[in-house]
Amino acid sequence: MGNGDAVELKEKYLFPNVRTYYSQPLVLAEGRGVRVRDAAGRDYLDLFGGILTVSVGHAHPRVNAAVCEQVGRMMHTSTCYLNQPMLDLARRLAEITPGRLQKSFFTNSGTEAIETAVAAARAYTGRHEVIALRHSYHGRSQLATTLTANAAWRTSSPLPGIVHAHNAYCYRCAYGLSYPGCDVACARDLEELIRTTTTGAVAAFIAEPIQGVGGFITPPPEYFRVAVDIVRRHGGVFICDEVQTGFGRTGSFMFGIEHWGVEPEIMVFAKGLANGAPIGATIAVPEVADACTGYSISTFGGNPVSMIAALATLEVIMEEDLPARVARTGDVLMQGLRALQEHHPFVGDVRGKGLMVGVELVGEAKAPAPDLALAFMELAREEGVLVGRGGLYGNVLRIAPPMSISEDEVAEALDKLGRVCQRLNGRA
Ligand SMILES: Cc1ncc(COP(=O)(O)O)c(C=O)c1O
Repeated sequence: MGNGDAVELKEKYLFPNVRTYYSQPLVLAEGRGVRVRDAAGRDYLDLFGGILTVSVGHAHPRVNAAVCEQVGRMMHTSTCYLNQPMLDLARRLAEITPGRLQKSFFTNSGTEAIETAVAAARAYTGRHEVIALRHSYHGRSQLATTLTANAAWRTSSPLPGIVHAHNAYCYRCAYGLSYPGCDVACARDLEELIRTTTTGAVAAFIAEPIQGVGGFITPPPEYFRVAVDIVRRHGGVFICDEVQTGFGRTGSFMFGIEHWGVEPEIMVFAKGLANGAPIGATIAVPEVADACTGYSISTFGGNPVSMIAALATLEVIMEEDLPARVARTGDVLMQGLRALQEHHPFVGDVRGKGLMVGVELVGEAKAPAPDLALAFMELAREEGVLVGRGGLYGNVLRIAPPMSISEDEVAEALDKLGRVCQRLNGRA
C-alpha cells in the first residue's frame, strides 16, 4: 500500500483525531531492532520506538518466541479466571519495584492504569481531590485528560476535583528564577496550592518522574522529595506515572523515580513493559490495594499473551542489564546533541536522562519554535530517521530509541540529526 492510498483510507475510515506525524502520514510495515521499514520499502532508524514502547527492539526474537508460544497455547482467559503468566508478572513487578509496592491490577493501556491508580488513592484515603502537574500527560479518558495539563488534549468536559501545580520546567521557570537559587520554589508552592485551591484534604499527587508528552521536562534532584513530603503531610499519597520512564528508560535504575529518591504508594506502567503488546499495570502498597474492594473487571486485563510479552521483555532488560547500558548510550546521545546545540542557536535546550532526551527548538529570546520542530521532523524523515515531538508549545523533539540501540547506531543517529540541523540552518 502506497502512502497515497493510506491518506485516502485514513480520511474516509478513521476519526480525524487519529493524529499522525508528518504532512504525509508514514505507513510502517515492519521492524527489526532499531530499524523500521515503510510500506514503500524505505528504511529508517527509529528514535521514537512507537512512543517509548518498543523497549528492547522491534521483533525481538525472545519476546516474539514467547508470544507465539503463548498464542498457540491460549490467548485469553479474562480475569474471572487466573492464568500463570499474570501471577508471575505480578510477583515480578513486586520484586523489582522500589519500597513496599506489592499488589498489581492489570489493564490494557496507560489510561486505564491511571484510572485504576486514582480510584485506588481515593478508596484508600476516602478523599477525592488530586493534584497533577502542569504540562503533564496521563492519557485519554475524561479523568486522564483532566489530569493532563495541556488544553490541546482536553475534551470539552473536564472533571471536578483536580488542580494543577507548577512543574519544574527550569528552562522556562514559571517564577522567573534559576536553579539552585530558586530553592525549588515550584515544589514548595504545593503547600499554598493545597491550602488555597483544595479543601486541604487531598487524595493524591500524580506526576511523571520526567514529563513525557510535555517535552521530557526533567526536574532538579530534590523536586520530588520536597513535593511528596508536602503532599503526605496533607494526607495524600503519591502516584508515580512511570508509563514512559519505567523499566530502564532513564538509565542506571529500573524506574525514573529512583533517580529522585522517593518511594511512591502507587506506580503506573504501560508502554515499554511489554515491548509493544497492549498492557497497563497499576501496583500499590498493600494497604492501598486492599482498599479496592468494589466490583471491577478488565476483560483483557492480565491477558496471558501480554503478560508473557512483559515477562520476556523484563527478562531481556534484566539479563542484558539495560539500565546500565542505557546510562552509557544515553550519555553519548546527550553529549552529541549538546555538541549540536553549541553550533545551532535554534537548539535552545537539551535535557533528559538515559535514552529519553528532549531537544527544545527556539527562535529569538527563547521563543518556542513549533514550525521549526515540524520542519525538523520532515527533514529527519528524508534523512531516514524518525523522532517524536511534544511540549506544550509543540517545539520539543523527543528522542527515545529502543533501549537496545548500540553506540554505533547512536553515532549514526547523531550524524543524521547533525545533517538535519545543517539543512535547517538556512530556515531558522
Ligand atoms: C506518562 C503517560 N501516562 C499515561 C499515558 C496513557 O497511556 P495510553 O496511551 O497507553 O493510554 C501516556 C501515553 O502517552 C503517558 O505518556
